[in-house]
Amino acid sequence: MKLVVPKESISSEKRVAISPENISAFETLGYEVWIESGAGDLANFPDNLYVQSGARISNEKSELWAKGDLVLKINPPSNEEVGLIKEGATLISFAYPARNEELLQSLGERKINWMAMDCVPRISRAQSMDALSSMANVAGYRAVVEASHEFGRFFTGQITAAGKVPPAKILVIGAGVAGLAAIGAARNMGAIVRAFDTRPAVQEEVKSLGGDFLMLDFEEDGAGSGGYAKVMSKEFIEAEMKLFAEQAEEVDIIITTAMIPGKKSPILITEEMVRSMKPGSVIVDLAAEGGGNCELTEAGRSKVEHGVTILGYTDLPSRLPAQSSRLYGNNLVKLVNLLGKTDQFAINQEDEIIRGALVLDHGQISWPPPKVEVSVQPVKPIEESVKEPVEEKKSIFSPGLMLGGLCILLLAMGWQGENEFLDQLTVFVLSCFVGYMVVWNVTPSLHTPLMSVTNAISGIIVIGGMLFVSGSNPWIAGMAIFLATINIAGGFLVTHRMLKMFRKE
Ligand code: NAI
Repeated sequence: MKLVVPKESISSEKRVAISPENISAFETLGYEVWIESGAGDLANFPDNLYVQSGARISNEKSELWAKGDLVLKINPPSNEEVGLIKEGATLISFAYPARNEELLQSLGERKINWMAMDCVPRISRAQSMDALSSMANVAGYRAVVEASHEFGRFFTGQITAAGKVPPAKILVIGAGVAGLAAIGAARNMGAIVRAFDTRPAVQEEVKSLGGDFLMLDFEEDGAGSGGYAKVMSKEFIEAEMKLFAEQAEEVDIIITTAMIPGKKSPILITEEMVRSMKPGSVIVDLAAEGGGNCELTEAGRSKVEHGVTILGYTDLPSRLPAQSSRLYGNNLVKLVNLLGKTDQFAINQEDEIIRGALVLDHGQISWPPPKVEVSVQPVKPIEESVKEPVEEKKSIFSPGLMLGGLCILLLAMGWQGENEFLDQLTVFVLSCFVGYMVVWNVTPSLHTPLMSVTNAISGIIVIGGMLFVSGSNPWIAGMAIFLATINIAGGFLVTHRMLKMFRKE
């Protein structure tokens, strides 16, 4: 089977569907890989890199399309390309079926199997094929790069001989894939980042990237079905806009990513808010394609209004073509793997990923697919604060009982008149008590707690030894002093060595 990768026909598109590193994976599946000459030039993948990796180059567009059993692309095909595609071929690209009905019809007439990268269901097993996420990740990063390019200051705060530079403050609205990538990139550049999302579940992710999550005193969860956000109530939008109005006066850059799939993007930044921003501020509207989150955004354009630069670029992934092409190519490898080796090539609709992505099945429209359960983050049930009653274990040897027993024993001995033994026993019991209190109340300041305790015991042994050294067994007392001293000195030596390990030379 022949796998072909044409040059993207949109003039501003710099990406290519696969990178040279992907060729071997397709060859292992049994494909003969053909690339249109110059297809990877703008992504820094010249023809010779593809050739070195084992691909063949075609200089003739129509010939290339005519031989392709499997065509890999990024954008949906143009009318010209529909005329070139081989009848019955399989095409994998972005499709946006909801707004490309005519294209579905015309490709349908050519009996094409069309798999849409934008329709790959967002289930855990399909994460490696999720091109929407990989492109949104690039877009979020690039949004920060574009903002820093327009912004006239550092992102990071500095104190220099020439003066103090305050850190830039950035507000990210919508913490999906693109939003989180933007938060990470902006934090790495040293900016103060605040973020807001209708789904409180993303709060932890924002915090883990070093951003501050803005809270709204309004009870409504934005998590909808299918792992996507849902349209929020009018009251919620009003409440969050109040929050954004306050933030607009304070922050230097706003990056908006709030979009509901298949719906017009909600307007969250009004002209009034833009006017309240400091001159030189920047807004990057990633939702520009769906109408924009800012009232003044123009899709695909950059403009300055009220001293604020508003970027409505819709081609952010294409502005990092080498990175995007690599990630997209990897997504394609994983999806093509699902179709099996070439000698067993099959579009198995039992597989929910293939079924979800398939918008044309031998020319028949198969979109929308039946719903699948996607991997939304499960909401953690609030833990009941009522604790299981723990039954207290009662020992038969309670302190009171033991003390009572000891008193009775002492009384009995005193009754019998064994005075000398009684004296020694009293001293023994009292010294145990005093020793216990001394040892366990030692504060472990330099040593570890264990070392402190053993040193305290050794200290008591040394004192005891000193008292008995002039008695009948001086050797035993001397030995006790010697051994206990080794323990004390050793403790200090080990502590000293441990401290040395952490000390900077
Ligand atoms: P996503 O659907 O995962 O994230 C959107 C986020 O916005 C979600 O977290 C959602 O909860 C949040 N959101 C929705 N309504 C909101 C509201 N009213 N207030 C606050 N937050 C709200 O989408 P993803 O993958 O993160 O992409 C973000 C956007 O970037 C999408 O609109 C996507 O189409 C766009 N995009 C733009 C590109 C460009 O070149 N401009 C390229 C790639 C993606």
